[in-house]
Amino acid sequence: MEITTVAGSITEAAAEAVIVNLFEGVVAPGGATGAMDQALGGQISDLIRAGDIKGKLYEVTIIHTGGRLPSPRVVVMGLGKATEFDAERARRVTATAVRALTAKGVKTIATIVHGAGIGGMDPAQAAQLCVEGAFLGDFRTDSHKTGNDQPAHLERLTIVERDQGKVAVISEGAQRGGIIGDAVNLARFLTNEPSNLLTPSKLAEYAKQASELGVECEVMGPEELARLGMNSMLAVAKGSDEPCRLIVLRYRAEGARDTVGLVGKGITFDSGGLNIKPSEGMERMRGDMAGGANVLAAMRALAQLKPAINVLGVIGATENLPSGHATKPGDVVKALAGKTIEIKDMDAEGRLVLADCLAYARREGAGRLIDMATLAGATVTALGHVATSIAGNDQALVEQVKAAAERAGEKMWQMPLYPEYRELLKSSVADIKNHAGRPAAAVTGAMFMKEFVDDTPWVHLDIAGTSWAENDQAWSGKGPTGAAIATVIQLVSDMAGGRA
Ligand code: BES
Ligand code: MN
Ligand code: ZN
Repeated sequence: MEITTVAGSITEAAAEAVIVNLFEGVVAPGGATGAMDQALGGQISDLIRAGDIKGKLYEVTIIHTGGRLPSPRVVVMGLGKATEFDAERARRVTATAVRALTAKGVKTIATIVHGAGIGGMDPAQAAQLCVEGAFLGDFRTDSHKTGNDQPAHLERLTIVERDQGKVAVISEGAQRGGIIGDAVNLARFLTNEPSNLLTPSKLAEYAKQASELGVECEVMGPEELARLGMNSMLAVAKGSDEPCRLIVLRYRAEGARDTVGLVGKGITFDSGGLNIKPSEGMERMRGDMAGGANVLAAMRALAQLKPAINVLGVIGATENLPSGHATKPGDVVKALAGKTIEIKDMDAEGRLVLADCLAYARREGAGRLIDMATLAGATVTALGHVATSIAGNDQALVEQVKAAAERAGEKMWQMPLYPEYRELLKSSVADIKNHAGRPAAAVTGAMFMKEFVDDTPWVHLDIAGTSWAENDQAWSGKGPTGAAIATVIQLVSDMAGGRA
């Protein structure tokens, strides 16, 4: 997608469709929408008066201009109530328009930035969210269909700004949005890929492609992991004939001392192992590497945004399958951090992989750790597909993640890690067990991993629900979402001392 920012009036933009907007309850549109109304001889205010346009959130009105303007279509996007407008909505309104228009074959769009006017949003941020939204709305899950009747992809997005003085900041925000949007869609593609096409080795190959962007990529296999003592991750990998991969990505900022570690669960297929899952919906477990895909995507974006902090990405990629060499319930392993684990349940495999990956990231010098994982079905039960759950051992870091999420327009909700929960993980044979049954199942996974980060500030983001949309929405079809990537990029930028 080609993205450009130009100074001028939206009424003069030449694209297959141009987008203006309306907050709910506004009867006399001003600004760019007012100018468009005039250019259309009052047609927009007529439609408002007739009740056809209400400005409701995600309302899409397409007006054909019949030769009155250079563009054949004007879209009036509803922004909802001005008091409720936020970063998430800013992204989703553009996504909604792009999704509706590309479904009709539109390939070139010009738009104003939503939210920077009466919305009161900072213009650079609003432009960033607008472009992120264009990528969000342009994503398709049909990469393996062979017909040519699929919806079009957006080829060109032009952002039109009336105030010449704002063009530079808007253009910068738009560029940032393009980098993030592209990364998010890569993660969505990987999350949706079937497990026969996205094996751990294949995920490592995608990671190696990040070296084009200056990210160092190191890939290790079962022998190296055994030598390192990553027996917890190996206990998961054992059941599969596909060799596991520990994927290590390094972005080095010149002169920076601190390193933040991003750790991702990369289970390319989770059958549950010998504690096999029911067949209903098992195909969804191809997306159990969403956390790993997020790390890969964030590293790619960060390499382009160049924050002044080192970033270490660690992805634990393996399948979780039952077989004659699979780990059996009751087996005991010694993890990289030195603690012994009684493996009660092989379907609680994510925490086994992450325990070793977090310990590895610490050893490699990460002073703060953020992990992303589709860890627990109980998180989906608690928060649905709406909010990502946060848990951590350092409240200041948790607050920093929450603030980044708010700015990035993503919903996150904290789970408590009260010491009492540790009791549930007591084992009679080893230091800890990996499964505590039903009580507090949205907490005990994080509680388990807490044991393997020692005193390093750490935050766990459970994207089990948010990484996948169960239903079609105006802004996106059902399927992978790339949730938490924008937050993590914002967080790393904040850690680097402001906008990267
Ligand atoms: N990958 C699953 C969690 C999951 C469930 C992600 C649904 C996305 C949608 C995870 O490995 C798992 O199986 N967790 C178990 C944990 C239990 C055995 C403690 C679960 O949620 O049942
Ligand atoms: Mn599992
Ligand atoms: Zn899993």
